[in-house]
Amino acid sequence: MALPGPIDPPHRLLMGPGPISAYPSVLRAMAAPLVGQYDPFMTATMAETQELFRGVWNTSNEATLLVDGTSRAGIEAALVSLVRPGDRVLVPVFGRFGHLLAEIAERAMAEVHIIETAWGQVFPVSAIEEAIVRVKPALLALVQGDTSTTMNQPLDEVGAVCAKHGVLFYADATASLGGNAFEADAWGLDAATAGLQKCLGGPSGSSPVTLSERAVEVIRSRGRVEAGIREAGDASSADFVRSNYFDLGMILDYWGPRRLNHHTEATSMLYGARECARLLLEEGRDAVIARHRRAGKAMLAGVQALGLGVFGDLAHKMNNVVAVEIPDGVPGDAARAALLEDFGIEIGTSFGPLHGRVWRIGTMGYNARRDAVLSTLAALEAVLRRFGVAVPNGGGVEAAADLYRGA
Ligand SMILES: Cc1ncc(COP(=O)(O)O)c(C=O)c1O
Repeated sequence: MALPGPIDPPHRLLMGPGPISAYPSVLRAMAAPLVGQYDPFMTATMAETQELFRGVWNTSNEATLLVDGTSRAGIEAALVSLVRPGDRVLVPVFGRFGHLLAEIAERAMAEVHIIETAWGQVFPVSAIEEAIVRVKPALLALVQGDTSTTMNQPLDEVGAVCAKHGVLFYADATASLGGNAFEADAWGLDAATAGLQKCLGGPSGSSPVTLSERAVEVIRSRGRVEAGIREAGDASSADFVRSNYFDLGMILDYWGPRRLNHHTEATSMLYGARECARLLLEEGRDAVIARHRRAGKAMLAGVQALGLGVFGDLAHKMNNVVAVEIPDGVPGDAARAALLEDFGIEIGTSFGPLHGRVWRIGTMGYNARRDAVLSTLAALEAVLRRFGVAVPNGGGVEAAADLYRGA
């Protein structure tokens, strides 16, 4: 085999449901020099990153940290650490990622109960409460923004319901955090996890996690320190978490003052995550959400002005992604390929019942920008015309530009 040259990827504009193009300064941060695992710079950077993410999550939770791995690493860590084998877990499913939570809870040996609503809808809080009363779960696991359907499940009243019934409340905010409101403390979350590759504007590979004191108590009650680093007086619960890598008790000890050795922190991902959070707080949490809202509205206005249908209950759409119905007669994958090959723009397909029916177009993180929205609409118009769709000349770009002008 001839030795390949150094990696030289094409410059893409990633306008799908994530991953998206990272902020340039995140990529620069990730190229910073490595330091050792217990270098004072490293431990100070970890502490700084925890404080920055408290700002992102809107929480005073001491237990705010990163799990190394993609978003599902954070989900798995939360569920395997909080759920004991045999515990009942309730998962309201309104898209593909609800099924993922149920699947991970099942692998954590929970007794999983699901309720479902049609894709494109969300649950009223009354339906969730009704199911809690019936199932009596130890934990409710709920996706906030499900990228498969673009819906944003309201969480603001769910925490009070969980507290009333003594249920732990976990949310997967992978696709929504940073681009839509999220109030970990005010909404009564016990645990929440995310990823960097959506509205936070980084690459995938690090999962921000935050845990309430109540969640930490549950995790601590299952504490076990590995032989080899265990000291006299260390907990060794028989009820220990059935994963070593994802045992949040051990990860907390690693991030906490004890700095007890666990995995080797993924230093470049830490730098990247720190920069994602720093950028968000520098711009301002509300300002970043408003930028996502504006970009999302502009993209929505643009695709509608092109005459395209939009899937789902628009009153509950996430700010950062829209599901566009593929016009009759247009080969969805060939049109996406033309966008990529001719314009360097990626948009997404979808899963399950929506596969082949909708394209998903994201406006998130670094790409929640006017020029990214307008370029995507201009390219989409050209591709639709090529596939025989009678689209109004410049209509999508004009509608989006109008929205930006009026904003
Ligand atoms: C809501 C949600 N949860 C979980 C995931 C899984 O994330 P990852 O691929 O980073 O593990 C995704 C990915 O798109 C998602 O949108």
